[in-house]
Formats: sequence, C-alpha cells, structure tokens
Amino acid sequence: MNTLDDNVKDTLNGEQKNGAGGPIILFFVIGLFLSLIMGWIIFPKLLYSKKKQPIDFNHVVHNDAVDEGCESCHFFRDDGSFAGVPRLEQCVDCHEEAQGETADEIKFVEEYVAKDKEVPWLIYSRQPDCVFFSHAAHVIKAEINCAVCHGHIGESEHLKVYEQNRITGVSRDIWGRNIAGIKKNTWDRMKMDDCAKCHKEAGKKEDSVQTRKDACFVCHK
Ligand code: HEC
Ligand code: HEC
Ligand code: HEC
Ligand code: HEC
Ligand code: HEC
Repeated sequence: MNTLDDNVKDTLNGEQKNGAGGPIILFFVIGLFLSLIMGWIIFPKLLYSKKKQPIDFNHVVHNDAVDEGCESCHFFRDDGSFAGVPRLEQCVDCHEEAQGETADEIKFVEEYVAKDKEVPWLIYSRQPDCVFFSHAAHVIKAEINCAVCHGHIGESEHLKVYEQNRITGVSRDIWGRNIAGIKKNTWDRMKMDDCAKCHKEAGKKEDSVQTRKDACFVCHK
C-alpha cells in the first residue's frame, strides 16, 4: 500500500502545479480497477455457493462395466419420457456389495444401498419449474448429441462441484459459466435465449419449430 500512498502524494504534489485533473483521474482509475476486481473476481465467487455431490461417480469406469452404454442408466421409458438421473435399482445388481475399495463406493454401499435410500444427486442442468423440456424431442427426433447441451459429463472420471446461484437458486450450468455472458461452448449456458437461438437455427431447416418458436407455451408450463 505504501507505493500507492506515495503515488497519491506525488500526484497531490503535482496538483499544486497542474490543477485538479491528476488526482481525479487517478482516483477514477483506482475506482475502475477496484470495481473490475469486484465484478470479475469477487462477485462471481459470492454469487455462487458450492456444493459437493453426495458421492463421486466415475462415468468412464461405468461405461466400460455396463452393457448398453449411456442407456443402461439414462434411458427412455415406453411412454417416451426420459428417466434422467438413475435410481438406486439401476445400481444394486452390481453394488449389493462393494466391488472395489474406493471410499466413494464404500460410502455408497453403506449409506445408500444398505439403507435402501436414493442418492440425492444434484442436477447440473435442472431448469426452473416453469420450463418444459423433452429429451425425446431433442435426442430421438432431432438427434442432438448429449454433449451439445451437457458438455462431456458422460466421459468424465469425477463429478464436478455443483454451483448454485444464490439469487436465482439455479445451477451455474443454466445461468452461465462466464459473468459477462460469453460462451465458448454450446454447453456453457442453457438460458432462454440459448434455447431460442438453436430453435431459430433449426427452424430454418425444418418449419416444425420455426412456426411455434416464439410461442411462450412451447417451453413454458
Ligand atoms: C452406471 C450408470 C451410468 C451410466 C452408464 C452413465 N451415467 Fe451419466 N450419470 C450417472 C449418475 C449416477 C449421474 C448423477 C450425477 C449428477 O447428479 O449429475 C449421472 C449424470 C449424468 C449427466 C449430468 C446430468 C445433470 O445435469 O446433472 C450427464 C449429462 C450424463 N450423466 C451423461 C451420460 C452419458 C452421455 C453417458 C454415456 C456415455 C452416461 N451418462 C452413462 C450414471 C450413469
Ligand atoms: C454393471 C455393473 C455396475 C453398475 C450397474 C453400477 N456400477 Fe458402480 N461400479 C462398478 C464397477 C465394476 C466399479 C469399480 C470398482 C473398483 O474396482 O473400484 C464401480 C465403482 C463405483 C463407485 C466407486 C468409484 C467411483 O468413484 O465411481 C461408485 C461410487 C459407484 N460405482 C456407484 C454406482 C452407482 C451410483 C450406480 C447406479 C447409478 C452404479 N455404480 C452402477 C460396476 C457397476
Ligand atoms: C437440447 C439439449 C439437451 C440434450 C441434447 C440432452 N439434454 Fe439432458 N437435459 C437438458 C435439459 C435442459 C435438462 C433439464 C431438464 C429439466 O430441468 O426439466 C436435462 C436434464 C438431464 C438429466 C437430469 C434429469 C433429471 O432431472 O433427473 C440427465 C441425466 C440428462 N439430461 C442426460 C442426458 C443424456 C444422457 C443425453 C443424451 C442421450 C441428454 N441429456 C441430451 C438438455 C439436453
Ligand atoms: C441444439 C439445438 C437445441 C437446443 C439447445 C434446444 N432445443 Fe428445443 N428443440 C430443438 C429441435 C431441433 C426441436 C424440434 C424437434 C422436432 O419436433 O423435430 C426442438 C423442440 C423443442 C420443444 C418441442 C417439443 C415437442 O414435443 O414438440 C420444446 C418444448 C423445446 N424444444 C424446449 C427447449 C428448451 C426449454 C431448451 C433449452 C433448455 C431447448 N429446447 C434447447 C433444438 C434445440
Ligand atoms: C425456446 C424455449 C423458450 C421459449 C419459446 C420461451 N421461454 Fe421463457 N424461459 C425458457 C427457459 C429455458 C427459462 C429458464 C432459464 C432462464 O431464466 O433464462 C425461461 C425463463 C423465463 C422467465 C423467468 C422465469 C424464472 O422462473 O426465472 C420468464 C418470465 C419467461 N421465461 C417468459 C417467457 C415468455 C413471456 C415467453 C414468450 C414470449 C417465453 N418465455 C418463451 C425457455 C423459453
């Protein structure tokens, strides 16, 4: 802080010669600098509370262990609805007893399998209650790859920390990785504008979505 004070003193000395412009600009620059730090570094840290998943889960190990790939756990029911995150019954055949010695598996078997208790997974992509979303329309009809919306969770060895927006209560995967709203990947954010953007592009090829794309009831319950 000394150098900063010295700078201020220097500038104040300069002021007697040069008028009031110097310190005002200096304070403006310091102010701008501090607000940038607030906006880019401190604010996002305060805005999101971090929560760990109840247990870690390794997709790579499991994609090898199961027979039907992703669909062994994330499947479509006969009525076309999507099962989403797996329930305990999809795990018990293999985890009645622990297969290995990892702490996460032991915790899983002792605290959930043995007590017949569902794991309270935190869902990164969970939308607000007012939003209607259908996996069948996107995955089966439009043949969109999981990673376009979710990123590479399905090929990961660890589950990332879940970050919840303290103001809206929504996951950071919905609200956006970048505070300025810059998107590097399609899966960095899944807000209303992002859904609408793809619908608009898809509508150019196919009028099914185009004709209804602006109707609020398409995506809202
Ligand atoms: C053995 C079961 C199993 C298999 C096989 C499996 N997953 Fe998962 N998957 C899980 C579990 C458990 C979670 C819960 C973690 C969580 O809350 O996100 C999960 C979470 C996910 C999520 C995050 C959902 C969210 O928003 O929270 C995605 C995306 C996903 N899986 C994609 C895939 C893909 C793609 C494949 C195939 C390459 C796959 N999974 C194979 C069990 C499985
Ligand atoms: C087809 C059999 C199979 C199914 C189904 C299965 N697992 Fe596993 N699981 C394994 C194997 C094999 C390992 C590796 C054990 C080792 O060598 O440590 C493992 C490891 C684990 C581990 C410890 C490693 C890690 O961090 O992921 C956890 C936790 C786990 N499984 C949870 C689950 C959950 C939750 C489900 C249901 C959604 C599930 N498993 C379904 C076979 C299975
Ligand atoms: C067009 C974008 C998109 C595609 C493609 C997509 N998802 Fe999703 N997924 C979402 C959205 C949005 C949600 C949240 C839905 C909600 O909150 O009602 C979600 C939720 C999920 C969940 C959590 C569901 C729950 O609440 O239990 C899992 C697991 C998941 N998706 C896996 C997959 C897998 C596996 C694939 C590929 C087969 C896939 N998704 C393809 C956008 C997509
Ligand atoms: C990567 C492109 C893409 C993204 C991202 C996307 N959609 Fe779609 N969506 C489509 C396409 C293509 C269809 C048309 C499928 C068809 O009917 O052939 C569609 C259809 C729909 C439908 C109509 C389903 C039906 O039963 O007719 C709803 C609702 C919908 N999307 C909601 C959403 C929401 C909510 C989001 C954001 C969370 C979203 N979509 C993100 C491409 C996308
Ligand atoms: C392509 C799908 C789509 C369409 C069409 C759409 N919305 Fe949304 N809307 C969403 C999604 C996804 C969210 C949640 C994420 C967010 O806040 O951006 C949302 C959030 C909202 C919210 C905030 C609610 C909350 O709980 O945070 C309002 C209000 C809203 N939409 C109004 C509208 C109105 C009015 C229209 C028609 C002019 C409309 N939406 C059309 C997808 C859509």
